[in-house]
Amino acid sequence: MIRVQVPATTANMGPGFDCVGMALKLYNFVEMEAIEQGVVIDVEGDGADKIPRDKSNIVYLAAERVFKIVDRKPAGLRIKLTNNIPLARGLGSSAAATVGGLIAANMLVGSPLSEKELLNEATAIEGHPDNVAPALLGGIVVSAKEDDDIKTVKIQPPAGMKCVVAIPDFQLSTKAAREVLPQNVSMEDAVFNLSRTAILVAALMRGDFDLLSIGLDDRLHQPYRANLIPGMKKVFAAARLAGAKGVALSGAGPTLIGFCDENIGLIAKVMKDTFAANGVRCRVVELEPNP
Ligand code: HSE
Repeated sequence: MIRVQVPATTANMGPGFDCVGMALKLYNFVEMEAIEQGVVIDVEGDGADKIPRDKSNIVYLAAERVFKIVDRKPAGLRIKLTNNIPLARGLGSSAAATVGGLIAANMLVGSPLSEKELLNEATAIEGHPDNVAPALLGGIVVSAKEDDDIKTVKIQPPAGMKCVVAIPDFQLSTKAAREVLPQNVSMEDAVFNLSRTAILVAALMRGDFDLLSIGLDDRLHQPYRANLIPGMKKVFAAARLAGAKGVALSGAGPTLIGFCDENIGLIAKVMKDTFAANGVRCRVVELEPNP
């Protein structure tokens, strides 16, 4: 029996659209074993009522890809999923399923694929590397796609960094949150995001939280997605006022994430209250980066 633990992830971190992500200390577990015949999938935990138990299951599909690539396939497969990452909220639940399925299946057949091959495969499945790279490697990962190969730089999360995530009680699919984005952006906005992403990476490498006030600014996706998340801009402002060093949409949303080093209780309270004042019920959780 193989057992794999995969972390939640927060992608983009403001300006790093599709190329920056960080693993968080919140985990899904994938257990996998070869059986004599058939496919048996059990799911427990978050979203258990919505996750398919048939061959359309993401973990199963990822496992099938590994078996196909290495041309080794168990006669039957039993998968058990224990999920803590909320579904379709911007915390990397689908990346965790993909990465968990790939790692577990690879281990089941003797680990013929390297970590790099698993990352490239995971990115091909997800379409972008910013969730799957930290889900696989941990820490903060900056990724660059070169044809089908993903180049990564891993950064250790700065000491003392804490995160407050406000998870609304509604789901938002990545597909829907990408459909509102423009196909083209102005040179001005491109330069804006380039400069902020450079500052973000410098801030993270130096552990300079004060730089996050500018390093989390974004013009490529958050302004367009704000319309899908009632109160988003007000929650950002309230969290900053309460002491958050920066606030961002987590992945494609709807979860919002505050980055802080102190005042965590107050930041959590104002994020929850401000969402509530805008008609959104949410669960607020304090999470640390997964190194
Ligand atoms: N970079 C992705 C997005 C993350 O923002 O759409 C969600 O999968």
